[in-house]
Amino acid sequence: MAKNSNLSQAKSAKNDEFYTQYADIQNEINAYIDYNPEVFRGKTILLPCDDPEWSNFTKFFAQNFERFGLKKLISTSYAVESKAVKSGYMPSLFETQSPDFDEIKTRIKGKIFTLDSDTNGNGRIDVEDLQWKYLNRDGDFLSEEVTALRDESDIIITNPPFSLFRDFLLWIIKANKKFIIIGNNNALTYKEVFPLIKNNQVWLGNGFNAGNAYFRIVSGADKYVSGVYDETSGLVKFRNCCWLTNLEHGRRHQPLQLMTMAENIKFSKHKEIKGVGYKRYDNYDAIDVPFTDAIPSDYEGVMGVPITFLDKYCPEQFDIIWRGGDMEWAEKECDFFTPPLPLKMAEYKKQDRTWRVQNPYLLCENDKVQTVYQRIFIQKKK
Ligand SMILES: C[S@@+](CC[C@H](N)C(=O)[O-])C[C@H]1O[C@@H](n2cnc3c(N)ncnc32)[C@H](O)[C@@H]1O
Repeated sequence: MAKNSNLSQAKSAKNDEFYTQYADIQNEINAYIDYNPEVFRGKTILLPCDDPEWSNFTKFFAQNFERFGLKKLISTSYAVESKAVKSGYMPSLFETQSPDFDEIKTRIKGKIFTLDSDTNGNGRIDVEDLQWKYLNRDGDFLSEEVTALRDESDIIITNPPFSLFRDFLLWIIKANKKFIIIGNNNALTYKEVFPLIKNNQVWLGNGFNAGNAYFRIVSGADKYVSGVYDETSGLVKFRNCCWLTNLEHGRRHQPLQLMTMAENIKFSKHKEIKGVGYKRYDNYDAIDVPFTDAIPSDYEGVMGVPITFLDKYCPEQFDIIWRGGDMEWAEKECDFFTPPLPLKMAEYKKQDRTWRVQNPYLLCENDKVQTVYQRIFIQKKK
């Protein structure tokens, strides 16, 4: 199997053609249905980056239209000529056999597929009843016509283009819509996203199986994803993908089972903790907890934890204070920021040119600084 990697290679090549597997969609959506079987009843769902020919999202929701009690399903696709990777495009039989097929439009226009009634009279509403037409523009989610569809819908669900994730999320948030989308862990600390997570307006979804996300790619796109592409399965594997949502699912309310600080020091499976204990940052009055499963259940003070904590975050158990590395917050709002004196700062900078006073760091032997990146500050719920 191909090596783990992140999405940066694909992102820099602006390759957005990664197709979500049916089983992953099913697994994620089941978590919301299990929590609330009525979650989609009477709702209009928009899938704004989804051509049924390629997208399992459209297939999944069309097949489950009646079971979920949907009011309407809308799926829009993006014109091939507007995509960064154009290879592998063939209009579907569904389209070419239709009297509305147009050889030019098929490449430059987006398409809209809608489902809301039994059009073929076979007694049920399913994928066979999808109606389609060309959009006036290329199907860009930011276009006026797709934005009007956003406004008409109740819930937006998709795996959006990785390269436009930030714009996509803001586009949804601006309209105050419910959503379930795929993103990547780096996006969680974006300045536009993190406050929403802190304020419990957005949270992680149920998640990919063991954190491994596999996507299908179009032929010819493997050159953008060397190292994560597996030829045998034709899939790419990413380790840092997550589902993001503002819909409830049960897992988010399951508190982490944790040991006390004394138990951790005695029994932790991590050599950094067992028999050693917890280090304190020099520049924040907080302890460093390098592993989520080593969070001490009885510690009342502030703790710095890795971003992966968010996948296990239960709002009834912990409060998120903020993230490390934000200078403005550290200076203006953080009452546990303890920066060193200017002379020391100059010394640390000399030791390590990447050292920054706002990034949580530890002091090791001989006054050596060790920066600890990507920490979130949390505290036990009072
Ligand atoms: C990560 S893929 C996922 C496709 C599909 N949602 C799925 O999960 O299988 C994102 C899709 O969004 C399309 N896309 C790229 N830019 C877009 C835009 N501005 N508006 C709408 N779709 C876009 C890409 O061409 C690609 O097909």
